[in-house]
Amino acid sequence: MNFYEYRNGEMVVENVKISTIAEEVGTPFYLYSSASLAYQYNQFIDAFGDIDLLICYAVKANTNQAVIKTFAELGAGADVVSEGEMRRALKAGVPASKIVYSGVAKTVDEMKFALEQGIYQFNVESEPELFRLSAVADEMKKTADITFRVNPDVDAKTHAKISTGKSENKFGVPWKNIRSLCADGAKLPGINVVGLDLHIGSQITELDPFEEAFIRISELVETLREDGHDITRLDLGGGLGIPYEGDDFPPLPKEYAEMVKRVTNHLGCRIIIEPGRFLVGNSGVLVSKVVYVKKGEERKFLIIDAAMNDLVRPSMYDAYHGIDPIKETNEPSTLYDVVGPVCETGDTFATNRLVSPMEKGDLLAIRSVGAYGAVMASTYNTRKLVPEVIVNNEQFAVVRPRPSYDEIIGLDQLPPWLSE
Ligand code: LLP
Repeated sequence: MNFYEYRNGEMVVENVKISTIAEEVGTPFYLYSSASLAYQYNQFIDAFGDIDLLICYAVKANTNQAVIKTFAELGAGADVVSEGEMRRALKAGVPASKIVYSGVAKTVDEMKFALEQGIYQFNVESEPELFRLSAVADEMKKTADITFRVNPDVDAKTHAKISTGKSENKFGVPWKNIRSLCADGAKLPGINVVGLDLHIGSQITELDPFEEAFIRISELVETLREDGHDITRLDLGGGLGIPYEGDDFPPLPKEYAEMVKRVTNHLGCRIIIEPGRFLVGNSGVLVSKVVYVKKGEERKFLIIDAAMNDLVRPSMYDAYHGIDPIKETNEPSTLYDVVGPVCETGDTFATNRLVSPMEKGDLLAIRSVGAYGAVMASTYNTRKLVPEVIVNNEQFAVVRPRPSYDEIIGLDQLPPWLSE
């Protein structure tokens, strides 16, 4: 369901005109729809039905407090990969008892913080991490509930930079080593092995790679139980893709959940999932303004006030994002390169793309940027971080203001020899 639509000749989100927000906030800005966030979350809830399920929103996709809190109020937990993310999740109202901690390089301080807070589970990615966590927990006289992240050696058939479940990737424990590592874990103080987890990649658009990986991990659960381990949790990670181009429709949560149930139901494990992109991706747009229309020798450039530092996905992963005008038009589309102001040719949102004709000052929406948009922004070229706005029916609120130049430049400090 799309919560961004044209009404009376202009794009609205829920019941707010985007042009009204632009007048108040200025451009560029990220814009999120609360109704869309809830709709996406409830698709998983409905799809899984009455099985024992914990949805841990992968907060890395969008760490804005307003977004995390929207999910927390619907009952979601969180998947975090740093102390910073855990602090954000806690602050947004996610109880530690619903937080899982992923990541390949957990430090002693991060482990201590998570244990102090009473974290639900660590997803352990390696033997050295297991031994470190045991030492930290034992010293604190605590027990860490852990799952082992299995590297199932499965090709997720997604972009190489976001594929994580192949044997050559840095993530997880090779599936062949899980048995011996579990045996180690069972003997270590401060460690309680409760399950297995995996995450094979992001923007996965077919069910087959998931199924292959889930079969592998389910077989491992049976083997581990035969070895005497009390395995009660299966954390299946995130990764379900979203539509970016009009005609590309990845499987829906319903189909995904049916497959999960078919493959894992006989185990009777609690199922944990860590969706990020699916929950937030299509719920956000980046609103930008045309600064110039420039006729190059070969191309026509739509130069807009958003840039690669605000949304890095097109330059980093050659990602496709739809671009639509805020003012509806019936004029035939024309070919543009849509580019930003940053001094790099890679600062390109679309090349030779058919877009509605636009003029200087026109507003446009870059679609499906709710996930891995604002969180990956930087101040490159000393550009201000883009503000974030959330809509709820007829209301909107700025949930991260645009910083001032003083705030950005003031982060630098001069060394003593340059201070006078
Ligand atoms: N769990 C773990 C352990 C993860 O590493 C990730 C994402 C997720 C869950 C959530 O995956 P999702 O449901 O969002 O696919 N910046 C890239 C995506 C990086 C994904 C990293 N890990 C992009 O813009 O496409």
